[in-house]
Amino acid sequence: MKKTIPQEKIDFLEDSIQNFFVNESTPLTDTSFPHNSNTHSYQKEQMHSKKTWLETFIARFSNTIAIDFGSTKTLAFLNGSECIMKETSTATINNDTKQIISIGNESKRMTGRTPLNLSVIEPIKRGVLADFSIAEQMLAHILRQANILSPKYIGPFVIASVPPAIRSIELQAYHDALISAGARNIACVHSGIAALIGLGVDIWAPHSYCVIDIGGGITSSVITSGGEILQQISIPKAGNDFNVLLQKSLRDKYAILIGSRTVEDLKIAVMQEHSQTKRFIVRGKSTETGLPLEIDMRAHEVQKLLYPLVKEIVRDIAQFINTAPAEVQADIQEQAVFLIGGGSHVAGIKKLLELTLHTEIVTVDHPSTIVAQGLTRILQDPERYKEYVSAPSTIS
Ligand SMILES: Nc1ncnc2c1ncn2[C@@H]1O[C@H](COP(=O)(O)OP(=O)(O)OP(=O)(O)O)[C@@H](O)[C@H]1O
Ligand SMILES: [Mg+2]
Repeated sequence: MKKTIPQEKIDFLEDSIQNFFVNESTPLTDTSFPHNSNTHSYQKEQMHSKKTWLETFIARFSNTIAIDFGSTKTLAFLNGSECIMKETSTATINNDTKQIISIGNESKRMTGRTPLNLSVIEPIKRGVLADFSIAEQMLAHILRQANILSPKYIGPFVIASVPPAIRSIELQAYHDALISAGARNIACVHSGIAALIGLGVDIWAPHSYCVIDIGGGITSSVITSGGEILQQISIPKAGNDFNVLLQKSLRDKYAILIGSRTVEDLKIAVMQEHSQTKRFIVRGKSTETGLPLEIDMRAHEVQKLLYPLVKEIVRDIAQFINTAPAEVQADIQEQAVFLIGGGSHVAGIKKLLELTLHTEIVTVDHPSTIVAQGLTRILQDPERYKEYVSAPSTIS
C-alpha cells in the first residue's frame, strides 16, 4: 500500500526548506555571523549542524535540479549527477489551442516542416526569456521528468545559470516561470562563474581569469580576479547568427534559398570537417526560378562566408578585454583565455582570438556543457561555492 505523508508534515518540511535555502529575497550566503568572531562561533557551529541535518532531511523529500536553459540548448541535471535533459530549447505548439505538441529535439525536427496550424517556438532569445508560457511549460516538463526518475513529495530546489548583465525584469521573469513550473526554491549563478567552476579552475586563485562563451543567442564574457567578477559583457551575436549570415550569403552570392535546418546541418558538417577542400552538396531552391537547386561548395568556401561575423565577434571581445586594467590584461595573457559554448566550434574564431589577444586560447571537448557542469559541481559541494549562489533578486 502507498504511504502518504500527512499535510502538516509536508508543511513543516516546506517551511524548513524555505528557511534553509534561498527564498525570493535572501541570498544563500550566510551573512548573519561575522567572520573571526569567537562570540559567534557556538552559533556558527549550531547553524552548521542544523544545516547538515537539514541537508540530509531535504535530500530525502526534495530533488535538486541544475538547469542551463540556453537560447539553443537546454541541459538539466538531477541531484548533482544524472542528466535528465540535453535537447534543443524548442517546442512545437498548436497555433489554435496554444498547446505544446512536442518539446526539444523532437520539435526541432519539425522546423521548416510544420503544417499551417503548428509552429516551432524558441522561448529563449539572446539568453533571456522571450515566451513566458512556453518557457514555463518546458521547465515544468523538466521538473516532471525529474519527479518520474526520483519521486519526491516536495517541489525541487532549482539552481539556474543566468547570462552576464541580465536585467532584473528578465531575471524576475525567469524566476516566475520556474516557480509556476513547480520549483519550490530557486537560486541563480552567473553563467561565467558556473563556466569557470565547470572548467575546474581554482576560482579563488590570486590572479585573473577570462572566459568567453559563444552560445547560440549571445556571446558573453566574464573576467574574474581572486574569485570576484571584475567585468562582464553580453554581445547579441552568436552561433545562430552564423546561420542567418550563411543563409543570406548563399541567397545573395549563389542565388539559392535554404531552410533553417539545412543551414544548421551544413554549418556543423563543415565545422567538423578538417579538410578545407572537402565538397558539400547544398540543396535548396533557386531564387530565380523557384525550382529545386543543388550547388557544390568546398568547406573553405562556406567558412569564408562566415568570416565577417567571426571578425565582428573577435573585435567586440577584444574591445571588452582592452577596457580591463593593465595588470588584469597582463594576467589574462599569462593565464590563457577559456573559450566555450557551441559557437566556439566555428572555424577561425580561436585562431583570430589568439592573434588579436596575443594569448593562448583554451578550448574544451564539450564546450556547450561547461556551464551545466559548473552548476552540477556547485550542487555537489554547495558549502564550498555558496558565495556564488544568489537568490534571483540579489544577482547583479
Ligand atoms: N560543431 C559545431 N560547429 C558550429 N557551430 C556549432 C557546432 N555545434 C554547435 N554549434 C552551435 O552552437 C550554438 C549552441 O551553443 P550552446 O549550446 O553553447 O548555446 P546556448 O547555451 O543554447 O545559447 P546561449 O548561451 O546563447 O543562450 C548553436 O548556434 C549551434 O549551431
Ligand atoms: Mg549558453
